[in-house]
Amino acid sequence: MTSIILYCRPGFEKECGAEIQEKAAWNEIYGYLTLTKNEGLVYFNLHNEEDGQKLIEKVPLKRLIFARDWFLTLTDKIDLPDYNRVEAITEALGQEWQYSDLRMEMTDTNDGKALSKFCRKLSVPLRQALRKNKVLTEKGDNEGAILHALFLSGSEVILGYSLSHNSSAYVMGIPHLRFPNQSPSRSTLKLDEAFLYFIPKDEWETRLTSGLKAVDLGAAPGGWTYQLVRRGMMVQAIDNGPMAESLMETGQVKHYMVDGFKFVPAKQNVYWLVCDMIEKPQRVAWLMSQWLLKGYCKEAIFNLKLPMKGRYQEVTKNLDTLKEAFAQANVKYEMYAKHLYYDREEVTVHARLLSPVPQF
Ligand SMILES: C[S@@+](CC[C@H](N)C(=O)[O-])C[C@H]1O[C@@H](n2cnc3c(N)ncnc32)[C@H](O)[C@@H]1O
Repeated sequence: MTSIILYCRPGFEKECGAEIQEKAAWNEIYGYLTLTKNEGLVYFNLHNEEDGQKLIEKVPLKRLIFARDWFLTLTDKIDLPDYNRVEAITEALGQEWQYSDLRMEMTDTNDGKALSKFCRKLSVPLRQALRKNKVLTEKGDNEGAILHALFLSGSEVILGYSLSHNSSAYVMGIPHLRFPNQSPSRSTLKLDEAFLYFIPKDEWETRLTSGLKAVDLGAAPGGWTYQLVRRGMMVQAIDNGPMAESLMETGQVKHYMVDGFKFVPAKQNVYWLVCDMIEKPQRVAWLMSQWLLKGYCKEAIFNLKLPMKGRYQEVTKNLDTLKEAFAQANVKYEMYAKHLYYDREEVTVHARLLSPVPQF
């Protein structure tokens, strides 16, 4: 049985499954789902074996909201012996195909975390053996395939591969970011990850550079503002709640205690709009479309809070609101949404217009 295995946040397997099934069907690829319970793993079992390669080529991982990373299986679950695990894995792989990297993976659960030391230890002799067999080539080959070894326990592994250009830059799609002590809230990691995920590093010099003006809606106590300030931006922080003193002392922040839905920037010189207001996602989506269409900002990153039920449908509906507003205004745009690692009951969206903004 050939399957696509997708990693998502534990508890979001249903959303991740519904999404891959729908987007695969758009490409006339069909299969059935096996969902794990709170293990953050989804198995999309393909009816036709040949569809696997087609799917990981045709569906961009960036277009999947709930999947952190994925791979196409090469083997079913392999039972590993207590000794000679390396041999068992190299034998199962054969020598036909080559990979540019090896990723040792496990579930994003406490059981999975308990396996990480075991995986680190095993990865050294396994890499050596795979290199010797010429199955693993020298690192740095961005064109090739990545070999995934998903350990379900110390004695069970599933092997598979993904395409380097269409998989996450991080093992299991998890960037491990350091919490900056100076930040007034842990939410700061969400915007840090969003910049890392949505904005290519080689464009940071123009799109995330010092001197840019930014607006932060729902800013208090200032975790997101901190990310803008530390990049040298000047920030208008909108929230009725108090902002951290340390941020106000930088001189880079102006605090407005007003409603984020009513605030209008005095000048059309704002580059970034970021928004983390805990508000109805449909209202936030509409507000974001208006900021972009009216030319109040050039780029926006915002969170859409998820409801308890029907989460995939709700996000799709919210994104449709933005798409319809852009279509009506006849503008070209770029928009991606992702359930980022540091997100919980929300997804993060990045949007910007690519064609000239209409004048109102
Ligand atoms: C999740 S917190 C923001 C945390 C912030 N991003 C950080 O990193 O510290 C949500 C904030 O949105 C604010 N908020 C909710 N509705 C708002 C509105 N209509 N206008 C302005 N702020 C609002 C709340 O006061 C709250 O401080």
